[in-house]
Amino acid sequence: MGCVMNPDRRVTLATTHDLNFVADLATKHADAVGFLTRTALDAYVRRQRVTIAHENGDPCGYFLTGADASSIRIFQAAVHQDAQGLRHGIDLLGGVIIRAAAIGASRITLHCRDGLASNGFWSACGFESRGLIFGGGSRRRLVHSWALNVRDAVRNPSLPYARRLLESLTRGTAPGKISPEERTAESCYA
Ligand SMILES: CC(C)(COP(=O)(O)OP(=O)(O)OC[C@H]1O[C@@H](n2cnc3c(N)ncnc32)[C@H](O)[C@@H]1OP(=O)(O)O)[C@@H](O)C(=O)NCCC(=O)NCCS
Repeated sequence: MGCVMNPDRRVTLATTHDLNFVADLATKHADAVGFLTRTALDAYVRRQRVTIAHENGDPCGYFLTGADASSIRIFQAAVHQDAQGLRHGIDLLGGVIIRAAAIGASRITLHCRDGLASNGFWSACGFESRGLIFGGGSRRRLVHSWALNVRDAVRNPSLPYARRLLESLTRGTAPGKISPEERTAESCYA
């Protein structure tokens, strides 16, 4: 089955041209996403750990993740205020899930500050709370620890992205058999 991709809504890997956008959006959401120096952001971009969502062809959101491992960590996630609620967050998360499934990672994890509305987003996307802990580095803020079981997430049709993911994983036959090109190209669940 073909992917009905709207080119204006694709999710792409960030390039160094996206650095200003990512840095500006991170600053706007500093309270929610924490602080990374521009040098650190640049390093994440160069290691292909930053993905960008687009609205009408313009960048409107990004996810920044850790290295490929049995558990993939989302370190930063933000969608421009004017583009929130349009499922760009799910598009970006779908890209991380496909990457996780492709490398055989079992979980996707993240910390989200207590009191942020975005905790509702992670819950709606199937993440399970592992409780409140002190995080946020030296600031010792109370954060929710969230985890998504990748296999359960892909199989659960009640989750917003699951059907789309199932289609692309079926086409790739199994985790680990999705080409890098497909991982990027399939991040379109509009
Ligand atoms: C969290 C964030 C990335 C979500 O992106 P988004 O594009 O607005 O979310 P989506 O439109 O993809 O929402 C997907 C689903 O999650 C649900 N959802 C989204 N935000 C929600 C919230 N605050 N509470 C409850 N559910 C929520 C929606 O209902 C939606 O499901 P539906 O379309 O079936 O109704 C975005 O709101 C954001 O950037 N927030 C500010 C920064 C931030 O807090 N970052 C996270 C730090 S941990």
